[in-house]
Parts: sequence; C-alpha cells; structure tokens
Amino acid sequence: MNALQDVLHPAGVQAGHIAHLWWFTVALCAVVFVAILAGLSYALWRAPRADARSAPDMASMDRPESGAKRAVVTAVALSILGLLALLGASVATDRALATLPLENAVHIEVVGHQWWWQFNYDDPIPARVFSTANEMHIPVGRPVVITLQAGDVIHSFWVPNLHGKKDLIPGRITTIQLRADQAGTYRGQCAEFCGLQHAFMAFTVVAEDDAAFQRWADAQRKPAPEPTDAKARRGHDLFMSGTCMMCHPISGTTANARKAPDLTHIASRPTLAAGTLPNDPQGLAAWIRDPQKLKPGAQMPAHHVPDDELDALVAYLETLR
Ligand code: CUA
Repeated sequence: MNALQDVLHPAGVQAGHIAHLWWFTVALCAVVFVAILAGLSYALWRAPRADARSAPDMASMDRPESGAKRAVVTAVALSILGLLALLGASVATDRALATLPLENAVHIEVVGHQWWWQFNYDDPIPARVFSTANEMHIPVGRPVVITLQAGDVIHSFWVPNLHGKKDLIPGRITTIQLRADQAGTYRGQCAEFCGLQHAFMAFTVVAEDDAAFQRWADAQRKPAPEPTDAKARRGHDLFMSGTCMMCHPISGTTANARKAPDLTHIASRPTLAAGTLPNDPQGLAAWIRDPQKLKPGAQMPAHHVPDDELDALVAYLETLR
C-alpha cells in the first residue's frame, strides 16, 4: 500500500492548522533551548576559576551578583509570555478546527472493530446506503462528517494527512469533520491501544475528484455479480454453504450476516485484514487458510480447507470487484 502517512504533509485544511501549530511550537521551543544554552555558557565562562593553591574566596559568596536578579526576572517574564503564546496558538487552532463549513457534506459512519474498520455510507434513500471495510473514499474539496462508534473496545481514528485523532468510545457516539484539499491516497491508523493486533488496524483513505468518487460509490452500491465460470461458481456455493456466510455479508446473495467485513467488492480493495497483507490471490488464499498465523487473535478462525476448495473460494472472491 503506497499511501502517505505524514503529519508534516497536510492534504487538508485541518491538518494544515495542526501542522502550523506544530511548527510554531517547535520554533518557540528551539529559541528557548538556544537561550538556555547561551545563558549556561555565559555563566560557566565568567565564573571565578580556582585551583589547588588558591585560597577559597569566601568574600565572593556574599557579594551580591550585579544584574543576576534582573536576568532572572526577565527570564521568568519571557517564559510566561512564551507559555501564553503557546496557549493562545493552541486555543486558536482548536477554534479553527471546529469551524469547517459543512454545506454539501458527505456523511460516513465509522465503526471500529478488533481489528478492522467498517465504513457505512449514509444516504437519505435506504437502497443507496452501502458498507465497505478498511478503505474509505472521499471527494476532494467537500466536507466529510464522520460519526465514530466502537464495536467492542476503545479505538482511535487517525488520518495524519487530514486531521488529528478522535477516539471511538464504547457506548458513545463521537463525530469528526474533515476535508481533503489534495487528491491522494492516505494511510490511516488506529491510534489507541485496543488489543493484540492494534498495530495491524490500518485503513486507506482515497481522496479523489467528485466525479471519480461518485463512480466509486455507484460501483460499491451494485450487488455482487453472479459468477459465470465453473470454478468461481463452485467457490460461491462453498461460501454460501460453509461458515464464511455466518459472519461476512455479500450484497445480492444470501450472505447477510454483519459480524465481519462486507465482501461485496473485496477484490477492489488494496489490502486484506486492515492493511496486514496485499490483496492478491496468494494473500487471499493465505488469509483464508490460516488467519491466526498472519494476525494472531483476529476474530476469523482458521479454515483448513482442501486445496481445490481454497482455489475455488479465491476464484469466487476475485470476481467481487
Ligand atoms: Cu483499534 Cu488500536
């Protein structure tokens, strides 16, 4: 997955505000650091030197340091000003983040699961609602209102190129608003420790122009095509008669459980298992055979299916574009 994950390359207005705050903080702290080192060097340079033969200079202990008091007062005053400046910048950033215009927004519901992401695209017309996993598409230049829910434990939604972090808390609904101003593919990551595979809970955000976004959404709304060749047909029948359909939904088929990622268009996604491995026939076969080897603790159990059945299942899933 060649996606960019970098807070210092903001691709949206809000990540821009956060990057500005970061650079301001770094610059101010660098000035303070240099000033402290300069003060320390000066103090060492002008300190009276003594050696083994010189008598202790008791008089200098009592002599008042000329200018020392003024230097301390000035340093304290400058420190307070610096801290106030950081506080002001932080409050200004917070306000800027909360003032994204929301006309014509796209609404997406995100549910965090151990250890994958569910993206539900809302629509006033129920037939147009669709769901995908670990891959989110958004139109460039349009605000996106994201509702966050936790399916099990606490998670945190973070796409560094687009915005800061927002927690998904069990029993609560939180929201985050963002806007991508540059087209691109950005990597998101769960940013709150949520169990064994927390590090393998990534997702991709594809920001594209509105026409491409609509094409993608229309394709996602389509039900899965009927498999035409015999091998894929066999894979379909194995899927529908085995344990796969007890957790995974595929729209347009009898598989309509809602426990695991929606596979209606799985072959169109870049990765498997939330960024764990590339989405190709080899990856798919390895994942179906033994997910516990690739992602120990994941909810999907190992399916030690015979090679010919595995082939058929992979052939069927590859038709789900
Ligand atoms: Cu989900 Cu960490």
